[in-house]
Amino acid sequence: MTEHPLTWDHSNPLTGETMPAPFFYDPAILAEERERIFLRSWHLVGHVNDFDAPGKYVVQDIFEQSVIVMAAQDGRIHAMHNACRHRGNRLLNDRRGKIGAVLRCQYHSWCYNQDGSLRAAPRTEALPDFDRNEWGLRPVRLEILAGWVFVTLNPDAPPLAELAGGAEAEMRRFLPDMDDVELVEETDVIVHANWKVIHENAIEGYHFDLSGPVHKDLAALIDFQGYRLTPHDQWWTYIGPPVSGVTEAYGVPLEGSTWQTDWFFNLGIFPNTTLYSFPYTDMIGTFIMIPLGPEKSLLRFGYYAPKGRPVPPVTKAAINWMNTQLGPEDIELNEMNQKGLHSMGFGSGRYLIDPDRPHESEHLVHHFHKLCYQAIREQD
Ligand code: FES
Ligand SMILES: [Fe+2]
Repeated sequence: MTEHPLTWDHSNPLTGETMPAPFFYDPAILAEERERIFLRSWHLVGHVNDFDAPGKYVVQDIFEQSVIVMAAQDGRIHAMHNACRHRGNRLLNDRRGKIGAVLRCQYHSWCYNQDGSLRAAPRTEALPDFDRNEWGLRPVRLEILAGWVFVTLNPDAPPLAELAGGAEAEMRRFLPDMDDVELVEETDVIVHANWKVIHENAIEGYHFDLSGPVHKDLAALIDFQGYRLTPHDQWWTYIGPPVSGVTEAYGVPLEGSTWQTDWFFNLGIFPNTTLYSFPYTDMIGTFIMIPLGPEKSLLRFGYYAPKGRPVPPVTKAAINWMNTQLGPEDIELNEMNQKGLHSMGFGSGRYLIDPDRPHESEHLVHHFHKLCYQAIREQD
């Protein structure tokens, strides 16, 4: 057996080998990724419409770190660490919810305003030098891109608009209802695979026509020859035009339904954010893989549809199809892939790079692996 050192020559995707297998299961690699990727990058929390009333919040965990994102009386959305400044108690446990005017710590009742400032703290008047203004919840950086709310724990992270320059215009081309959507469903699934194994599966079309039957259902809606996977450094798209003559999708007739786009549209932002829309659906999906361990991830599917309107039948069918058919078919591939990576008979493989058949080429997988590798091995 050849021992693969944990370095990788990514210089030539056409002739070189894939990122070596231990990058997908070694706990030391995940520790490096935590430090150098996840604690430094931007994380999608939700849409601004998730925060359309004071007190509405979403809790976003980033490894052991936990961040509260909350709408406040001042009309703004605030992000703050989910830890009481008194003795560090975690304040909110639920993924999302709504509080009244006060966020109260269950331990000794320190009370915070919705913007994180400290409102009252029992008996602190006995402390000679206690200034309430200095003991609000520690803020976290928050930015909004095209109506999507992101946070980062990195004070030095480049602004999202710079890092993903051009992404907003691309989203608006395909998702005209983007400002007017609301969350209709969020589904969390535990997947026994490394987060990169899940991600790389989503960013290549090579397996589309060659894996399971459900993939062929999706491929049948797309003019697959026109499927294009395009890297733009820290963000990327994979987009496919519609085939003509489609009368039904996801087992439901198109007649009587509405949709934002008949294209298959996907946009990713490094490291783990994907926003997408299936052909003929009036929805924007979020697809986020969150590492829970080197070989265990939380795959979070969010579905946003136009606000205040019934979800059209095709969209409803597509959400159900993703949750019960396409998602599970890919998850099975992810888990089988994860097992195989340990084999003494593997080590590393090859990328299928084919400029003449770009729709089936794995250049975006190489690009993503390269960004991961550079973050942990080639940057300060
Ligand atoms: S830890 Fe929160 S009030 Fe004491
Ligand atoms: Fe897939």
